[in-house]
Amino acid sequence: MLKIINLSKSFGENKVLNNINLEIKKGEVIAVIGPSGTGKSTLLRCINFLEEAEKGCLKFGELNIDLSSAHKKDILSIRKRTAMVFQNYNLFKNKTAIQNVMEPLITVKKVSKDRAKETALENLKKVGLEDKKDCYPCKLSGGQQQRVAIARALAVEPEIILMDEPTSALDPELVGEVLDVIRNLAKTQITMIIVTHEMNFAKDVADRIIFMENGSIVEISNSKELFNENKNSRINKFIKQVK
Ligand SMILES: Nc1ncnc2c1ncn2[C@@H]1O[C@H](COP(=O)(O)OP(=O)(O)O)[C@@H](O)[C@H]1O
Ligand SMILES: [Mg+2]
Repeated sequence: MLKIINLSKSFGENKVLNNINLEIKKGEVIAVIGPSGTGKSTLLRCINFLEEAEKGCLKFGELNIDLSSAHKKDILSIRKRTAMVFQNYNLFKNKTAIQNVMEPLITVKKVSKDRAKETALENLKKVGLEDKKDCYPCKLSGGQQQRVAIARALAVEPEIILMDEPTSALDPELVGEVLDVIRNLAKTQITMIIVTHEMNFAKDVADRIIFMENGSIVEISNSKELFNENKNSRINKFIKQVK
């Protein structure tokens, strides 16, 4: 469904992604782990053109896009078909929960306000927050704000959801509620790439785990292999450190 071919990206002299190749099937949940500064966020951001890669191709369904010279039309198309969940939620502070979820429905999907309201409410229900629909972000906990952000991502019915450390800005006691929401999503056959430091979560939820280091994919394996039978001592060390 999504294929990344020879993706490279530098910031000035700093080579951040080095020839990344990855294929993701429909319904698959991929966890991306690895030390900080390795290019995990940049990889997600290149997939939906929040950053422009300098080299590489993206195959997305029938689309075949050269990442270094993508047309505006292709970029828009990718943005419509993907949704991102950020570490810091990125909610509009001057909009209520439901207005935040309605926003991309109205601006990107161009649906009517009434329809957007209905869809937004359905999706707030999915994350257990219908009763908070009229609250502004400042009245919500971090965990609730991230659940609103997840509802917003779901509402546009993306073909793939990209999550960049969705729980790492949260106080420890709020991590569980967000992971539970993502766990439930994973059961619904939605395709997701999740950058995370939550190793047990990655192990439970992911079909495959990618270990990245220094801008490269060092290993792709199913979660059991990576955690139980791993021969790469660098990965073992990393997993022990973050556990
Ligand atoms: N917008 C940017 N401008 C310059 N350098 C950046 C930018 N974004 C990320 N980097 C650099 O790219 C490298 C990879 O960053 P990032 O993708 O955020 O890593 P990770 O998510 O694995 O921690 C780091 O060295 C970081 O400093
Ligand atoms: Mg990051």
